[in-house]
Amino acid sequence: MGKNILVMTGSPRRHGNSDLLADAFIRGAKEAGHHAEKYEAAFAKISGCRACDTCWSKGVPCSFNDDFNGKFISLLQQADVIAISAPVYFYAFPSSIQATMEKVYSLLGENSPIKVKISEAVLLMCAGENEPEVFNGAVATYQQLCRGMRWNDSGMVLASGILEKGTIVKTHYLKQAEELGRRLI
Ligand SMILES: Cc1cc2nc3c(=O)[nH]c(=O)nc-3n(C[C@H](O)[C@H](O)[C@H](O)COP(=O)(O)O)c2cc1C
Repeated sequence: MGKNILVMTGSPRRHGNSDLLADAFIRGAKEAGHHAEKYEAAFAKISGCRACDTCWSKGVPCSFNDDFNGKFISLLQQADVIAISAPVYFYAFPSSIQATMEKVYSLLGENSPIKVKISEAVLLMCAGENEPEVFNGAVATYQQLCRGMRWNDSGMVLASGILEKGTIVKTHYLKQAEELGRRLI
C-alpha cells in the first residue's frame, strides 16, 4: 500500500530549484504508488517556538496560533514519510523550515494527544556554492532530527553549484530526486 508523504518546501522562490527537486521527488513517489502533498513553509505564517511551555493549554498545539496549528498539523498527522526540500540559506535551513520544526516541540510532550507516526525522512537541498561542504550545517541538523525523532534517513539529494532560478533543470539532480521518490518502499 502506498505511503503518505509530506513534502515540506522552504524556498520563497516558486518553481525555483528546490521546488523543482520537490516536484521531481513527488513524481517518482506517485509513480511508485505513494500519495504526496506539498507544504510550502515559506508561504505559511509560522513563527518559531516562544518556549512559553503552554502547549495544548488552549486546545491546540501552540498557544501562539498560526498556520502550524492548521494545515501543517493535519498533514503531519497523516504522514508516514517527511521530505524536506529547501535551498541552503546561510549554511543552514531557511528560517521557515526551522520555525516549523521548532513548533513540533508542542507534539513531543506527554500531554500531546497527537502522535507523529512518521518513520522515514528524505532531504533534498540545493546551494549556490559548488562545494559539498556547503550542506554540512543543514545535513548535521537533519541527521540529528532523524535521530531525535526516530526517523530513518531514506536518502538525500544535495545539489551544489545551483544558484540562478531554474539552473537545476540542466543537471542530473532532478532525475536523482525522481529516482529517490520511486525507490521509497
Ligand atoms: C538569503 C539567501 C541565502 C543564501 N545562502 C547561501 C549559502 O549560504 N550558501 C550557498 O551556497 N548558497 C546560498 N544561497 C543561494 C541559494 O541556495 C541558491 O540560489 C538556491 O539555488 C536557491 O534555491 P531556490 O531556487 O529553491 O530558492 C542563498 C540564497 C539566499 C536568497
